[in-house]
Amino acid sequence: MYEINKAAVIGAGTMGLGIAGQLANAGVDVLLLDVPAEGDNRNAHGERAIERLLDENQPGLIHKDRLNRITIGNVEDDMDKLADVDWIAEAIVERLELKKALYKEIDAARKVRSIVTSNTSTIPISLLVEDMPLAFRAEFAITHFFNPVRVMRLLELVRGTDTKAEVIDCLETFNESRMGKGIVVCNDTPGFLGNRVGVFAIQTALHLAFELSLSPEEADAIFGRPMGIPKTGVFGLYDLIGIDLMGDVAKSLVSILPEDDVFHEVSTEIPVMEKMISTGRLGNKGTEGGFYRLADANDSHSKQTLDFDSFKYRDFTSEKPAIAIEAELAGDFTKLLAGDDKYGRYAWQILSRTLCYAANLVPDVNESLVSVDDAMKLGYNWLRGPMEMIDAIGVDAFIARLEAEGREVPAFVRTATGKTFYRVLDSRLQYLLADGSYTDLKRADGVTRFSETRRSISPIIENTAASYYELRDQIGIVEWHSKANTLDGESMSLLERAVAHASDNLRGLIIHNDAQHFSCGVNLEGVLGFIRNSDWRGLDGFLDHFQKTMINMRYAPIPVVAAPSGLSLGGGFEVVLHADKVVFHANSVTGLVESLVGVVPGGGGVKEMLYRWSEKEGEVLKGAWQAFMNIGYGRTARSPLEAEPLAMYRDGTDSYLMNRDRLLDSAMGEVLAMADSYTSVQRQSLAMPGRDAWQDMKDWLQKAHAKGHLTPHDVTTGSQIAMIVTGGDVDAGTLMSETDICALERKAFLTLAKTPETSTCSNTAARCETSN
Ligand code: NAI
Repeated sequence: MYEINKAAVIGAGTMGLGIAGQLANAGVDVLLLDVPAEGDNRNAHGERAIERLLDENQPGLIHKDRLNRITIGNVEDDMDKLADVDWIAEAIVERLELKKALYKEIDAARKVRSIVTSNTSTIPISLLVEDMPLAFRAEFAITHFFNPVRVMRLLELVRGTDTKAEVIDCLETFNESRMGKGIVVCNDTPGFLGNRVGVFAIQTALHLAFELSLSPEEADAIFGRPMGIPKTGVFGLYDLIGIDLMGDVAKSLVSILPEDDVFHEVSTEIPVMEKMISTGRLGNKGTEGGFYRLADANDSHSKQTLDFDSFKYRDFTSEKPAIAIEAELAGDFTKLLAGDDKYGRYAWQILSRTLCYAANLVPDVNESLVSVDDAMKLGYNWLRGPMEMIDAIGVDAFIARLEAEGREVPAFVRTATGKTFYRVLDSRLQYLLADGSYTDLKRADGVTRFSETRRSISPIIENTAASYYELRDQIGIVEWHSKANTLDGESMSLLERAVAHASDNLRGLIIHNDAQHFSCGVNLEGVLGFIRNSDWRGLDGFLDHFQKTMINMRYAPIPVVAAPSGLSLGGGFEVVLHADKVVFHANSVTGLVESLVGVVPGGGGVKEMLYRWSEKEGEVLKGAWQAFMNIGYGRTARSPLEAEPLAMYRDGTDSYLMNRDRLLDSAMGEVLAMADSYTSVQRQSLAMPGRDAWQDMKDWLQKAHAKGHLTPHDVTTGSQIAMIVTGGDVDAGTLMSETDICALERKAFLTLAKTPETSTCSNTAARCETSN
């Protein structure tokens, strides 16, 4: 049996520091080595890596304290320390001879029964270990992480001819549960799966855009959200990664792929891009711009686009083709394929070529279509994998269109004629094998993706914003599915009905979804609708309904567990705050950010934070100040560990997991553990601090304003938060129930909604968009 308790990472560059950081996040001691730096400080490379890990703009660590898990060193002075570790992950530059030389040194230093892996993106195992003894080869594999390591879910695990099965098992188990990765086991073939299909899709989108004379804006409007892939599009992605670097990625794939691979058709250099590189227009990292640039670096509205004819920048066009808007709104990429204009042709050509390319990899490159789909979903953030997309188009329709165009139909797609790649049989989700038979889709124990579970069950209640289902063991689940999972009246009405139904019929309720973000908050477009129409009764009614739903959920006779991942902000986090227990993903971002758009949390969030802080501080006045400051500044946490000191995570009650695919199973376990002896805890009324404390907070706001730290509207918003947490114009010690404090939230919200500043607030959904 192999076991990983201590690890080492060699190469402290982009990937090495990411892997070391994630090991530290997982609570594993890790040694991080690089080449010795010139000068006195031989560990300077490692120190620079640590600085990057601690940079708040980088994904880095789940808590800065995790840094004490990492020891830095260099490959000349510290190789002997490798004798103490169970897993050595090599992440040095992509140069075969350097890697090979390093393995000799590693082998001389490592202990018996330790595992060695490489993070190589392109070099086959057979070459990496060709000079090494069998004992080394048996304990060697490729662990191909994606950048940034903390965020990207995919890990491609590649087994060599001599790699022992138990080594692969150990790497698979450890990386899945401790490092939080979705593992795709790949054969030792060029580019493995993710990059092979992903870079092909990007290169195809790029070449076709030039062929069809589409502007960067037009191409990115199609090859983005409407297609179910990240919104950076193709030109935006080139800018993000670097025009030169993306070119190098394509070139390196070309150098390793077989000569007859169609990848070569989309890898030729494009003259405009050669000119861009030679004139320093390398994308976001340079100063000369890329396909896009900001005319004024501090003004996000000053975006410009490179005109390929004049080679000068012109104003960016934000107008999108109607078909792109329609497909994105409907969440249905197939709408893109219906059109016969240049946009429809662009979408069809990219997709048909990419989906055929992916289908051609089964079974020779990978026996399982699920691996191909997972690679694209977890490594490239596609909403659907290639085979899922063909299913959505319809296998027969896909074949018919290819045939009508005289194009070759991949053998694996032919196998699916008259069928689908995935099917549900007797409530079991199955997928097609290359021989035409189906097999059950099985995930590791404890791994459940609700998007897969949902395919074999029907909702008990559903509406446009959410659905409610029954899982096994009489547990109910509510799934949001509006855009960015923003919450509106429909979301609340479904939750209200689900709580009532589960209370009468089931043992507990879970609130969870598989989307990128749990919920980006209340749909402020809806709130703005009330404001623009001066419909104050309507707004008050919406908030009242939200609050009552939360209180009903909290006092339901059954346990309620929330299992969020991604963003849980504003109203989304208010729902989380009202659950009995929360199972967080380690990368969850949480916070009540309403003050940043000039309002206050109005769904019971201020009340919850007041209760939590009062408990944490041991008295209401101190609790009120904490709630006031934290909500006032719209503080957010980027992990449950950062959320704990902000009273957004309860030690001993809530929990967190590294792998988001394990949230649902864990939440079900929590429900069952509570179900038999569950009684909801009734809260006492709070003795409110009253008018003097309110005045103190208002004085504090005025002083901060006088120093130039707050705008006048910040002061107005802050005064309203202060009013809620102190009870407002009441005597100190006045008792207020949860309902009383909720009424103050509504009063504050309405007061702010009536100010002119609030009607111009931006939408939280828009904020989610930018963070995607
Ligand atoms: P990088 O250039 O950022 O870092 C490489 C580090 O290795 C540098 O700090 C360098 O000083 C160090 N180094 C070089 N020779 C060494 C030696 N003999 N001993 C110890 N340290 C040495 O490179 P990056 O991007 O982190 O890539 C590392 C590996 O990961 C490569 O094999 C690359 O193909 C692969 N990869 C890179 C991805 C990316 O997005 N950057 C994604 C997936 C894989």
